Amino acid sequence: ICPPQVFSGIQPTGIPHIGNYVGAIRNWLKLQKKYQRVILSIVDLHSITTPQNPERLRENIFDMTACLIACGVDLQRCILFQQSSVSQHAELAWILGCMCTLPRLQQLPQFKQKSDKLKDVGVGLFTYPILQAADILLYKSTLIPVGKDQLQHIELARHLARTFNRTTEVLFPNPIEMIGHIPKIQSLRNPANKMSKSEENTLGRIDLTDSPDNIREKVKKAKTDFTSRVTYDPDNRPGVANLIKIHEALTGDTPEDICEDALLLDTARYKLKLAEIIIEKLKPIRENYIQLKSDRGYLKTVLEAGQLKAIQIAEATFSEVKKAIGL
Ligand code: ADP
Ligand code: NA
Repeated sequence: ICPPQVFSGIQPTGIPHIGNYVGAIRNWLKLQKKYQRVILSIVDLHSITTPQNPERLRENIFDMTACLIACGVDLQRCILFQQSSVSQHAELAWILGCMCTLPRLQQLPQFKQKSDKLKDVGVGLFTYPILQAADILLYKSTLIPVGKDQLQHIELARHLARTFNRTTEVLFPNPIEMIGHIPKIQSLRNPANKMSKSEENTLGRIDLTDSPDNIREKVKKAKTDFTSRVTYDPDNRPGVANLIKIHEALTGDTPEDICEDALLLDTARYKLKLAEIIIEKLKPIRENYIQLKSDRGYLKTVLEAGQLKAIQIAEATFSEVKKAIGL
């Protein structure tokens, strides 16, 4: 029996924000302590499902690499690599795509949500869950830490693994998801939506590398309401509740404790307090990032080393796949 293989990915679509940090990155830091080997992919092929500026994309890949290391990704325990540098991701996606029926893809809810907003919809936006399945199965991964919104995609990976195993040869283990207690942070400007790298208004998110003044400004401008007390009521006061959730995620204090400590503060004052907490938590990450980002040569070396390690595993799986289907 093989040890569990953890796999996760993040799109290089900008500097990660505190939502990415508490919802994903921080969990990876825990997993790398617990499991022998964690595979983390900067999934650039996924990011081009929507148009990207080439210079920006290239920069984003290095930014993400620097940010992940700055957060504490341990290069001795993780394989950190750029998805497109391992060609077997796209190749396996093609083969799995040939085994995936159209209705099976059409039933996934994310496509509708994402494509509704767009004028021209690329096919990649429709088929990317197949690429995601390839990402997972290429490393025979079994533990996939994801948010709730990704569950259906893990189910597709599981389905494709079973289809492959049944129709050709048993090669793939059953990928299982791990959700755990993962906080979900909303946009500061628009608390109805999740905080996202792709939100146009940058005031909606706090990037891990934001300066203290930047953080103060964003927290100050966070959308709240006309009640000045600090209370935790996600349904009726989503803006204030989101600030408390960020506070909770960063300090571990419960919403009850946070509100009690803020009894004498109005929301404006509470925002000042929270801004300082965020600044303090992000300080070491920001400092590490600035140092790492100034050394492009080092970041290239990191990605090349990750590529070599990932390719070793990917090649082995992919040659088994080709053999099994007669290629
Ligand atoms: P984004 O929407 O910011 O581009 P990604 O799609 O690259 O984020 O997601 C990267 C990881 O971060 C995923 O595991 C996702 O579940 C997590 N994540 C993204 N946004 C949030 C958020 N607002 N709160 C908590 N976790 C999040
Ligand atoms: Na995104």
